[in-house]
This record gives sequence, C-alpha cells and structure tokens, in this order.
Amino acid sequence: MSLPGKFITLEGVDGAGKSTHVGFVADWLRRQGREVIVTREPGGTALGETLRELLLHREMAADTELLLMFAARQQHLAELILPALARGAWVVSDRFTDASYAYQCGGRGIAAERIAALEDWVQRGFAPDLTLLFDVPPDVAEQRRSSARAADRFEQEAGSFFDRVRDAYLARARSEPQRIRVLDARHTIDAVQAEIARLLLDLA
Ligand code: TYD
Repeated sequence: MSLPGKFITLEGVDGAGKSTHVGFVADWLRRQGREVIVTREPGGTALGETLRELLLHREMAADTELLLMFAARQQHLAELILPALARGAWVVSDRFTDASYAYQCGGRGIAAERIAALEDWVQRGFAPDLTLLFDVPPDVAEQRRSSARAADRFEQEAGSFFDRVRDAYLARARSEPQRIRVLDARHTIDAVQAEIARLLLDLA
C-alpha cells in the first residue's frame, strides 16, 4: 500500500515524555511545508475518544482491552489516517500498534500471535513509516509519572508492569531497527529534539 503522505508514530512507557515531543514533530514538518494532522491512540475519532474513556477508566478483562484498542484503531484508520495520507497529508500519532505489543502483550501477557492476527485484519500490511521510541530507565519514568496529573488505569500499574512494557518496546525496536528509532529520553528536551529533527530530515 503506497500512499503519498507519511505516517509517523511516537511511543514509550508512560512518563518517557513522548507527549512533549508530538507538537515539535508537527511544527517541524509544517515548517517544511507539509500538511500535518496530529492525532492519538486510543482515540483520534469521536468513537475512538469514547472508547478511550472506557479504556483508561473502566475495569475490564485484558482481552476486552486489546479488542477495544483495535476497534478504536480500525475506526481511526478508516475515518482519519488513511484518507489523510491518501490526500498527501502527513499524520503524526501519539501511540499506535507498537503500544498494543508493548502494553497488551508485554504488560498484560497476551500472546503476540493474537495481536499479530488483529494487526493483519485491521491494517492489512499497513505500518508507520517512522516510529520514534522514547526510552528512559524505569526509575526516571516512575518519577515523571508520579508528578503528573491523576493517574489513569494504566498509570496505576506497578513498576514491574512498566519494566515489561519497556522491554517489549525495546525488543520490537531491535526486530525493526529501520522503522523504530530509539531516543534516549533522559537527555534534555533540546538534545532529544535535535535528534528528532535529524531523523525527520532522513524521512523528508
Ligand atoms: P498516553 O498515550 O500515555 O496518554 P496521556 O499522555 O494522556 O496519559 O495514554 C494512553 C494509554 O493507553 C497508555 O497508558 C498506554 C495505553 N495503550 C495501550 O495499552 N495499548 C495501545 O494499543 C495504545 C494505543 C495505548
């Protein structure tokens, strides 16, 4: 599937600081003259944002959580991501399918094959052009999480949950080093953003 626009995703454990960098990526691309759509998962559409509320705040079984993530993703692709890419816009998403492998497989322990089956169904081979993975050691992430606003259902998980999420992200980055670029998010915001700009230049 070749589309004129490009799809960039940002990933990392809660507290890695990825949300800080979404706006920087979008502004950088706009300065290059691109039309840019900023979005997030779960969410990105009216239905997806309703599902996000449930996912972040209602108790549910792990498989329900996985299926709702992909239900939101299907709607996001159909309604927003694919039409935008088809008209040549660039789409920047705060999280996408790598988060399902990290959180639902790594964190919750659901078999990777289950996630791969949903990925095939929903995405039919579609994947981001570039994924920025913001990585920090567990203690730094935990410190950043604890100073953030009220914790959602994921942010209330124990430290060991986030260790598994981080390990799953890093394993994915090792298996797809071309697409998934790991950034050391312990560095200053300026240093991280200089590195982001370098990676975007390769893509643009
Ligand atoms: P997050 O992106 O951290 O938003 P905020 O910065 O507003 O807290 O929150 C989304 C949560 O959803 C995050 O804890 C990870 C989780 N998530 C999954 O577990 N699986 C997924 O596939 C996606 C997209 C997100």
